[in-house]
Amino acid sequence: MSKKTVPTNRNAYIITGPTSGIGRATALELAKHGTVVLVGRDLGRLDEVRKVIEQKGQHAVSVVCDLSDFFSVRRAAAEIIALHLPIVGLLNNAGIMPTRATKNALGWDMTFATNHLGPFALTEALVPHLPDGANVVFIASAVENPEHKPAKAVGFRGGRYISAEASARGEWKPGGSKMPGADAYATSKQANLATAMAFARETPRLRFNALEPGFTPNTGLARGTNVLVHFLLNYILPLLAPFLKYWSTRSGPGAWPPKS
Ligand SMILES: NC(=O)c1ccc[n+]([C@@H]2O[C@H](COP(=O)([O-])OP(=O)(O)OC[C@H]3O[C@@H](n4cnc5c(N)ncnc54)[C@H](OP(=O)(O)O)[C@@H]3O)[C@@H](O)[C@H]2O)c1
Repeated sequence: MSKKTVPTNRNAYIITGPTSGIGRATALELAKHGTVVLVGRDLGRLDEVRKVIEQKGQHAVSVVCDLSDFFSVRRAAAEIIALHLPIVGLLNNAGIMPTRATKNALGWDMTFATNHLGPFALTEALVPHLPDGANVVFIASAVENPEHKPAKAVGFRGGRYISAEASARGEWKPGGSKMPGADAYATSKQANLATAMAFARETPRLRFNALEPGFTPNTGLARGTNVLVHFLLNYILPLLAPFLKYWSTRSGPGAWPPKS
């Protein structure tokens, strides 16, 4: 945690993955509305964002958390609780989409651990400390839907959930994608939706939502893809965007903070 003190009389928002892409842009926007708790795996990268926010006279605090590591998540949750900030929102944004399926230190599928198990554990630890009406948002993705035509066209085949144990082992229903890692990603995003719905049922005093941000090129998500796919995703698709039937924009579904 960064040592600088943060005000305890302003609304606070927690955001995971604020060091890149959608999360970075959202963290800078959230800072206009209150203190931002920046949650990520690299203190140097977190502090770079924190300094940008502080240079504008706004407030942020960095909390180190590797979402693929259960123990790191529990430590981070305890740090956040100890800040005693008036938290009004938690945005579970961080996510990875590796091209091939890999494992974390416990031998669990890295994508399932990072995109689902970590955010689930973080949220579960923080829920008792959130005031009534607080917003909790999970960033989902349309690629979890096997009927989503644009996602299918680029190789996704939708979430392929069998069981939590199978997902943690990196096993999915047959008939999946030829693109290694796509089944892990789509299934983790399916788990995000199920998580949001389960929390909403169990804790009606809070507002749980899952949000599809729309295809957002030039973030770090496609890191690891080959040069051709990287070029297509980041430079060709944005040019074609206005002509694509299924295109969705950040100003639509991705607006944050959500309206109450
Ligand atoms: N881009 C799109 O078109 C799109 C579409 C639908 C949904 N989404 C979702 O939107 C969210 C943000 O994606 P993005 O496109 O903005 O990607 P991005 O630029 O790669 O940002 C991902 C963020 O997650 C963090 N992160 C990765 N692994 C982590 C870990 N183990 N522990 C803690 N933080 C970790 C990264 O931190 P580092 O800086 O340390 O790497 C980074 O801050 C993701 O959940 C993604 O699935 C994106």
